Amino acid sequence: MTDNIRVLISEEEVTERINELAEQISKDYEGKCVHLICILKGSVFFHCELAKRITIPVTMDFMSVSSYGDEFVSSGRVKIVKDLDESIQGKDVLIIEDIIDSGRTLAYLTELLGSRAPASLNICTLLDKPERRVTDVEVKYVGFEIPDEFVLGYGLDYQQRYRNLPYVGVKE
Ligand code: IMP
Ligand code: MG
Repeated sequence: MTDNIRVLISEEEVTERINELAEQISKDYEGKCVHLICILKGSVFFHCELAKRITIPVTMDFMSVSSYGDEFVSSGRVKIVKDLDESIQGKDVLIIEDIIDSGRTLAYLTELLGSRAPASLNICTLLDKPERRVTDVEVKYVGFEIPDEFVLGYGLDYQQRYRNLPYVGVKE
């Protein structure tokens, strides 16, 4: 079975944008150590590519959350599947997310992590669908704003498949 997938953002475009984001983050956090929190599983490719390009000290941790709902719509109720290994108290935390859709997952996460007394807390997302937002979230770094279409690849899945595509695509 072959699926028809239209390329929305090519691998080259993603790489170029990640270079820019890493440069900006390295400047903004100069003199500090940035603590990256990779939200599994969707952010894993973005997190790795970004982390490799940041030129200031980096530490990292991983968290896995799942939002209850069907594959297309998150309900806003978030379950922590795997919490962080280390405390974030006093750290300059940057949450690395694959995509912001309704904003519910990140609204929940920023409230939770914000209550753990980090020195600072910001969000970096590869993709943003601003049209779909139902909850206000302040996002410091956005790779690409995209239209309201269901995307996959570069870590994003449809029923757990397609995460390994090296580009961001739309299933036709
Ligand atoms: P939110 O809570 O509605 O912002 O949803 C965020 C989560 O929904 C993301 O971390 C993804 O796991 C999933 N999601 C939202 N839109 C898409 C999409 O277009 N493709 C794949 N997953 C998506
Ligand atoms: Mg996700």
